[in-house]
Amino acid sequence: MPEAPLLELRALDAFYGDFQALFGISMAVAPGQVVAVIGANGAGKSTLLKTIAGLIAAPRRDAVVFGGEPIGGLPAHGVVGRGIALVPEGRRLFPSLSVEENLLIGGRTRRPGPWSLEAVYGFFPVLAERRHSPSTALSGGQQQMVAIGRALMSNPRLLLCDEISLGLAPVIVRDIYARLPALAAQGTAMVIVEQDVSQALAAADHVFCLREGRVVLEDTARALTREAVAAAYFGV
Ligand SMILES: Nc1ncnc2c1ncn2[C@@H]1O[C@H](COP(=O)(O)OP(=O)(O)O)[C@@H](O)[C@H]1O
Ligand SMILES: [Mg+2]
Repeated sequence: MPEAPLLELRALDAFYGDFQALFGISMAVAPGQVVAVIGANGAGKSTLLKTIAGLIAAPRRDAVVFGGEPIGGLPAHGVVGRGIALVPEGRRLFPSLSVEENLLIGGRTRRPGPWSLEAVYGFFPVLAERRHSPSTALSGGQQQMVAIGRALMSNPRLLLCDEISLGLAPVIVRDIYARLPALAAQGTAMVIVEQDVSQALAAADHVFCLREGRVVLEDTARALTREAVAAAYFGV
């Protein structure tokens, strides 16, 4: 029997004013599962993560169900408190603060769990050496590690990652992605948004492809071919 989903989206719509950005998205994510969401620029990937995270209000409470509880429309801090953390597109660190201060901000709303400053430094040892540096003094890859560490500080059951590979050298991307299976192994589920299709197929159990706010393809990563993905991605 499949495990009860941790996250369930039930015909989720999302709007910016009159503009509808998501249309009837349905999705289930089990504990420890890694789901990738791919799609071209403007497909709605960031909107999807922001709606799950409570940064954009879901129109119906039961459109987002987490741990069996309807949470659509809850404010973002309420969503974090229930165990959902977002690593936002572009990282969005506080430039005037140190690495450690940025991490501590992620821990302001936290559930009980294994993550602490020391645990984050164990996971990303390079950050321990830079703990008192301003976040702007770090390389792009190190800044991405701070953004992930900041999210982990809340002890999430579900980690949402928006384009963590964007703008980073391939060797850094591989280094960061190599650490994610350890999170999944301890039961943390992940929804990762990626424009890099190969990276998404390699990292995920299940893949959703969005186009113009709709799911146009969904399958296990193993079953998907690059041709099927390309056709869905571009709508050819
Ligand atoms: N703050 C906003 N106000 C109005 N429209 C937006 C806003 N953010 C995104 N959009 C629109 O919503 C659609 C989906 O955007 P987005 O979720 O950012 O796509 P992706 O992350 O896949 O590139 C696009 O048409 C985009 O122009
Ligand atoms: Mg985006």
